[in-house]
Amino acid sequence: MSNIPKLGEVKDITRIERIGAHSHIRGLGIDQSLEPREVSEGMVGQINARKAAAVILQMIKEGKIAGRAILIGGEPGTGKTAIAMGMAQSLGKDVPFTAIAASEIFSLEMSKTEALTQAFRRSIGVRIKEENELIEGEVVDIQIDRPASGAGIRVGKLTLKTTSMDALYDLGSKMIDSLVKEKVTAGDIIRIDKGSGKITKLGRSISRLRDHEVSGAKVNFIECPEGEIQKRKEVEHTVSLHEIDVINSRAQGFFALFAGDIGEIKPEVREQINQKVADWREEGKADIIPGVLFIDEVHMLDMECFSFLNRALEDDMAPILIMATNRGITTIRGTNYRAPHGIPVDLLDRLLIIHTQPYQEKDVLKILKIRAAEEDVDISDDALALLTRIGLETSLRYSIHLITSASLVCSKRKGTEVSVDDVRKVYDLFVDVKRSVKYLKDYQDEFLYDTQPTTTNDQKMSDV
Ligand SMILES: Nc1ncnc2c1ncn2[C@@H]1O[C@H](COP(=O)(O)OP(=O)(O)OP(=O)(O)O)[C@@H](O)[C@H]1O
Ligand SMILES: [Mg+2]
Repeated sequence: MSNIPKLGEVKDITRIERIGAHSHIRGLGIDQSLEPREVSEGMVGQINARKAAAVILQMIKEGKIAGRAILIGGEPGTGKTAIAMGMAQSLGKDVPFTAIAASEIFSLEMSKTEALTQAFRRSIGVRIKEENELIEGEVVDIQIDRPASGAGIRVGKLTLKTTSMDALYDLGSKMIDSLVKEKVTAGDIIRIDKGSGKITKLGRSISRLRDHEVSGAKVNFIECPEGEIQKRKEVEHTVSLHEIDVINSRAQGFFALFAGDIGEIKPEVREQINQKVADWREEGKADIIPGVLFIDEVHMLDMECFSFLNRALEDDMAPILIMATNRGITTIRGTNYRAPHGIPVDLLDRLLIIHTQPYQEKDVLKILKIRAAEEDVDISDDALALLTRIGLETSLRYSIHLITSASLVCSKRKGTEVSVDDVRKVYDLFVDVKRSVKYLKDYQDEFLYDTQPTTTNDQKMSDV
């Protein structure tokens, strides 16, 4: 059992792989007026879908929409995942973006709805505004009284000044420890965060410049601060609702272990947190930032999950939901009902649908060129033209894969530029789906458990 990786690790691995395929995408490639540029930020063509995505993105940025859902539908390899990744790149750094594949929901560690709830709450940011009280000044004097016995509570006094005032503070033992640890002495200019008690040495007072006590070490001499010693400073930070959930359920400590808690967060904890966040909003201490939840391969969800989505989108703290699928009219998972995209009609009814179109030759060529550059592969024009043809006849993904393998073949023969021959070689080595199916059909009698290669009951997008 010990070599079974934990869920978290597995997820991370798939995430790295997924980023790899789209690492050339740096945004949606749109200009100021939301018009997609033909080639920009790693994005090529697919103009209509990109434009639609850009409009959605703009609405998200302006904070105008929450609880809306968008579906990107189209044939395999037409850039649906790429467009979602492009949107993610263009969101501000404070806007949370969560990407999952629908199949990740089905795990033994937690129920489907819990996994979905977590994904939703990961996608909602809470911007918390805090006012920190700071004490800032030059140390005039520190007095620490040690009890004669050496034990017991230590007490002390700290005198600080600015150019306009000075003040005396009583020190508790925790503060004394920090002052000793930071080696604070008279003449230092320090900042104390009143909330956390953290002490920062800002430098040494210029008035001590002539002192010989600090020779050698690099010392930063600064002016004695002006004005009040106590200052207020507003700090902002953004965390996701899920992060708040996790922190608060951990506080229950290790008793959670005995309660058989397997990573699910109790509904009571979430309710309390929702209430807390609502209070903070009312007091002006926090803002909600609806982020984006991207569910790829959404046809892998079942009825229960879809009905959960219906409900969850109605919550007033819902994020924007973006889904993608390459299925046409197909059965809804776990039922005998057929529906467009394998999605129940009541959910479909709430969606804005974006379609991606199959690529033309010029687009495939450009995408392959960008991928070659991304993978640092030098490739001849003929070889690129051949790859483009392969891409059109088989699939864009297949030809993207061939770039990597052809470059390996190339470096094996100590070449510097991938040639037509290198591409031919890998084309023979690795078959695409069409040839693989043909092979299976030709030799089906020799395979174990042979049955006719079944056609699925899925229709292609183009048949819809
Ligand atoms: N318009 C585009 N510009 C640049 N790269 C693209 C574009 N469209 C697709 N790609 C790249 O081509 C590959 C396949 O595209 P992608 O994975 O986005 O297809 P998909 O529509 O999600 O397919 P599937 O339905 O199989 O999931 C990816 O590496 C992607 O980054
Ligand atoms: Mg995809």
